Amino acid sequence: MNGQRETFSSGLAVFFATLGSAVGLGNIWKFPYLVGEYGGGAFLAVYLLCVAFIGLPVMWTEFYVGRKTRKNPVGAMSMLSPGTPWKHVGTMGVASAYLIMFFYSCVAGWVYYYLFKAIQGDFVGITMEAAKAEFGAVVVGPLSPVLWQFIVLVVVSSIIAFGVQKGIERMTKTLMPLLFVLILICDFRALTLPGAGAGVDFLFQVDFSKLSGAAILTAMGLAFFKLSLGMGTMTTYASYFTADNNLFRTGAKVAVSDTMVSLLAGLAVFPTVFSFGLEPGAGPGLLFMTIPLVFSQIPFGNLLLVAFFFLASIAATTAMLSLVEVPTAWMSEEYGVDRKKAAALNALIIFCIGILATLSVDKASFLGSYTWLGRGFFDWFDYLSSNVMLPVGGLCFVIFVRRHLSWEELRREFSNGGALPLGGMFTFYWFSVRYVTPVLLGLIFLHSVGVL
Ligand code: PFF
Repeated sequence: MNGQRETFSSGLAVFFATLGSAVGLGNIWKFPYLVGEYGGGAFLAVYLLCVAFIGLPVMWTEFYVGRKTRKNPVGAMSMLSPGTPWKHVGTMGVASAYLIMFFYSCVAGWVYYYLFKAIQGDFVGITMEAAKAEFGAVVVGPLSPVLWQFIVLVVVSSIIAFGVQKGIERMTKTLMPLLFVLILICDFRALTLPGAGAGVDFLFQVDFSKLSGAAILTAMGLAFFKLSLGMGTMTTYASYFTADNNLFRTGAKVAVSDTMVSLLAGLAVFPTVFSFGLEPGAGPGLLFMTIPLVFSQIPFGNLLLVAFFFLASIAATTAMLSLVEVPTAWMSEEYGVDRKKAAALNALIIFCIGILATLSVDKASFLGSYTWLGRGFFDWFDYLSSNVMLPVGGLCFVIFVRRHLSWEELRREFSNGGALPLGGMFTFYWFSVRYVTPVLLGLIFLHSVGVL
């Protein structure tokens, strides 16, 4: 198998790659929308607590498993606990990564398609009705969404085929700073529109009356999905971290930066939406219907629209990279498949099954009438992965730490063999992972499957 395993070249490369996984489509519509919906600043405070008590402990645990073993999730768990069923936590991670990619690649395809249309100037002077009709047509297809899904997979698997340093590292190091710059440009334009203040108020109002139990559980689930936890992506990336990386610090920096990107995205979207008196709660449609509409009506709008969909494409691509890397590392390390072939094979598998998701998004879609218990393929892939497998995966990781790893062993790894001072961070991690995180993750799971 792989005698010489690649690693990222520096701490900065580790940071951008990991941030690239966390920053995704979730930042651009899901996070700001949920913050506005559930009480603004109050929800944000709860979200930050969830990041601290669930997100970071699970992320650090995945970092431990990956860097300690330098293997894909299945190989890593087999190495830490040979001959036991714990390796299936890794197997479940690989399975969840596939499930997420089946529908994530479809949405990423829409984003690429919108970028293409924006570049062509198709949205100039578009009306509300036309924007809605356009989105409906894109979703139903059937040919164009499948074609764009294919293009996304070709792009992502080609980057993956180049390897860890020449592929993932080079792309994320270039694209993540660019994404920041593009968001700031969109923010500047949005915040200088007349009536933009209402959008800022929507995002940052502090309304504790909206903070229901459901809001708290939503914040927990969001923290988990936002930081790409529970399906072995962080385990896989950490297996490429440098030996001297400060795992605690990397996790904290990624969590803070990811939250910042989400808030900056909110500051580009909501002031614009409010300035035009539109509905802020439109979910995914917000991105695809409202943004072209409003940007088409302001000076330099089409340029900004291209910038906006370009940054959304970057977010989708870098998140997909981390997902495709999971089965690619697994196939090449566990079965000796050549990395390039593994990347191509995975793109093919994701495409063949992902078509089912793409063609079942809407009732009017080609496979829209195939439903089971009220859900089509797209919804099942989404529901099973996000609501069931990710929280269960995260829970398994923390239970594993609780049962198998001693205080001394964890301290040794997190301090890089005693080279780093850990301070109170380690005590915080130890108590969260043993007592707080498992309980909270159990609650998320029960909520997601409808028991709570
Ligand atoms: N964190 C990504 C987002 O917020 O859009 C979603 C995601 C990417 C989840 C990668 C899981 C993953 F492995």
